[in-house]
Amino acid sequence: MPKPASRYVCQSCGAVAPRWAGQCAACGAWNTIVEEPADSRPGPAGKGGPAAGGRPVAVVGLRGETAAPPRAATGIAELDRVLGGGLVPASAVLVGGDPGIGKSTLLLQAAAALARAGRRVLYISGEEAVEQVRLRAARLGLADAPLGLAAATSLRDIAATLEAEGDATLAVIDSIQTLWLDSLDSAPGTVAQVRACASELIRLAKTRGFALILVGHVTKEGAIAGPRVLEHMVDAVLYFEGDRGHAFRILRGVKNRFGATDEIGVFEMTGQGLIEVANPSALFLAERRGNVSGSAVFAGVEGTRPVLVEIQALVAKAEGGPPRRAVIGWDSGRLALLLAVLEARCGLGLHQHDVYLNVAGGLRVAEPAADLAVAAALVSALADQPTDAGMVFFGEIGLSGEVRMVAQAEARLKEAAKLGFTAACLPKRVATRGRPLAAPEGVALWEIGHLADLVARLAAHRQGRRASPRLAPGAGSG
Ligand code: TYD
Ligand code: MG
Repeated sequence: MPKPASRYVCQSCGAVAPRWAGQCAACGAWNTIVEEPADSRPGPAGKGGPAAGGRPVAVVGLRGETAAPPRAATGIAELDRVLGGGLVPASAVLVGGDPGIGKSTLLLQAAAALARAGRRVLYISGEEAVEQVRLRAARLGLADAPLGLAAATSLRDIAATLEAEGDATLAVIDSIQTLWLDSLDSAPGTVAQVRACASELIRLAKTRGFALILVGHVTKEGAIAGPRVLEHMVDAVLYFEGDRGHAFRILRGVKNRFGATDEIGVFEMTGQGLIEVANPSALFLAERRGNVSGSAVFAGVEGTRPVLVEIQALVAKAEGGPPRRAVIGWDSGRLALLLAVLEARCGLGLHQHDVYLNVAGGLRVAEPAADLAVAAALVSALADQPTDAGMVFFGEIGLSGEVRMVAQAEARLKEAAKLGFTAACLPKRVATRGRPLAAPEGVALWEIGHLADLVARLAAHRQGRRASPRLAPGAGSG
């Protein structure tokens, strides 16, 4: 049978389909399947069977003399934390993110910091001309940093340059989607080109011992391969996220062969580039107005780091038609679940109300521990009764309305105390791993076992002021 002359590759996830389709069957993305020439690599087995011509490799035990890899700290603490303590020699890191989010800015700052610390650093830009990078460096006050700058897109030229650099600590490639290898027929930015160029660069990094950072734009259209097609090839994957409408940016580790993956680094984009935010809670709570209904502070944890954020809810009587639900920064399925629990277990009917939920500041919260804070914001909005302005909330809510313990309760409480909060609403379970929960001084604990307790308390507060026509806790068990 003749080999097919071309194949169809999803530019988002890299899956290969036998024929063109509008939607990728593997990742569900639309319009991402592109025809590529089938590659003509020889099969694994030449003549004489698969073992012919091979040499056995050394097979060793797990215990050995391998010391922890010495890392090169960039000096940008938020970046080093996400990397697991700095850049590991002979490793490859992928930094993904939307165009314009600040990847080039961050990496230029990191490269300059390392260069200033006396390391050899190469910054190879495939997107911007040398002049453009110089202008940016001048604007960031980095022009004096002794880094090596080049503008190139041909992989052969870049590989030759890297081969010639004996002692480089770091090479930044901005971005991998602009590189091309002339031995491939496909255009720059396709899955085939991106993978071929990345694998060649990674091989160089492993043999020459420098740390490699590849920049990859997250793409909405299918014409350019997204960074996801490289995730399996690199040692660490970091995504740079943020809302263009907000100044702060979050660097999130999603894969790390040399460290924890759930760390975040928080930055603020300013006129002078990215500034580290050492205290993100203060940033996220900066614009909070106390004493408004529909607001609750969630004591969250991102990685090893406690982060306090404000959850805002707005509840309004639906004017005919199905009620609207809009969620920003949280999972809408989780909201539907919470609304059902509030209705079935606490007797709070929200099925005739439009419900809007927002995580203030633009942060995206993924923890189930946010359930209790979201519920508090919803109940507070419905009752038109502010939650206690000095109180933080955390806890997971189960389908029967029970409030469940979550990890790192003490870290959450400590952060709340640090920011001047005086009370915490949390799940009833005083012992964490057999130890009694240590509450920081000045923080009163209000432990609840069931969501109805929270509803009853907010309703009681309100009834102290005037009778609540809308909120009538009923079915809940205490
Ligand atoms: P950039 O690093 O070029 O983004 P990426 O490489 O991810 O595409 O950042 C571009 C944006 O950052 C641009 O819209 C302007 C903004 N910016 C600042 O606000 N301050 C600065 O000092 C710099 C250099 C950029
Ligand atoms: Mg860029």
